[in-house]
Amino acid sequence: MLLSVKNIGLKFGNLVAIENLSFDVQEGEFLGIAGPNGAGKTTLFNILAGYYHSTGQIQFREQDITRLTPYQACYHGIARTFQIPTIFPSLSVHDNIKFGIQFGNPGKKRNIEITIDKLLTLMNLQSQKDIEGKNIDLFTKKKTMLATAMATKPKLLLLDEPIGGLNPDEIDQFLALIYQIRAKTGVTILMIEHLMEYLVDLSDRLLILSFGKKLCIGLPNDVINNKHVIKDYIGEGID
Ligand SMILES: Nc1ncnc2c1ncn2[C@@H]1O[C@H](COP(=O)(O)OP(=O)(O)OP(=O)(O)O)[C@@H](O)[C@H]1O
Ligand SMILES: [Mg+2]
Repeated sequence: MLLSVKNIGLKFGNLVAIENLSFDVQEGEFLGIAGPNGAGKTTLFNILAGYYHSTGQIQFREQDITRLTPYQACYHGIARTFQIPTIFPSLSVHDNIKFGIQFGNPGKKRNIEITIDKLLTLMNLQSQKDIEGKNIDLFTKKKTMLATAMATKPKLLLLDEPIGGLNPDEIDQFLALIYQIRAKTGVTILMIEHLMEYLVDLSDRLLILSFGKKLCIGLPNDVINNKHVIKDYIGEGID
């Protein structure tokens, strides 16, 4: 087991954002995560990446990571992208990726340019590498954010609505990139997405959250036909 989440909980004041949530993720698995707005999906990622500390226990590669800071979570092999695209606005695409390498591998001094070059090529970002973060479009920003996360050489990649706001052509390109990254690196992926058709295609299993709780976890086709998921999330009468 790569990741084991056991009975975690988190409150913001009186608001219960995550409640008694447990699930396991196998090495190499692609787990899709969905659920209504405010269900606690991003909060779950913030907990896994060390931004918030929950009750309960989280084990990653057989170590307790429940109370790590974000940089410690990164050193352990957890990288994430953000729902609201977040890169350094005054750094170029190239230097954003370089930051990922240096942040994720503090001792690494050699072959940095080779690694950046490979990531720029993989993401088709070579022609934009010198543009500053504040001057790039959403698609380029999302690819830069993904490249920066991959630059830390993660074992677990958390993608928070990575295709939100992209047009259909950009979505196809971005999903193809995720496929390629998975095939090349074997990285385990947790991906939050509202559009179920994409999640059903990509995922080995689906986890549906509702009001901070696990509504259902299982094979994609079983989950989308689950009566609780239909009632609380997907809705009746949608093809
Ligand atoms: N830092 C915070 N302080 C207070 N409340 C918060 C904070 N972060 C999240 N919440 C609340 O916790 C609940 C879960 O939020 P979260 O962002 O995890 O939902 P989500 O499932 O990612 O929703 P969406 O689909 O809209 O992105 C919401 O009610 C949200 O308002
Ligand atoms: Mg969210």
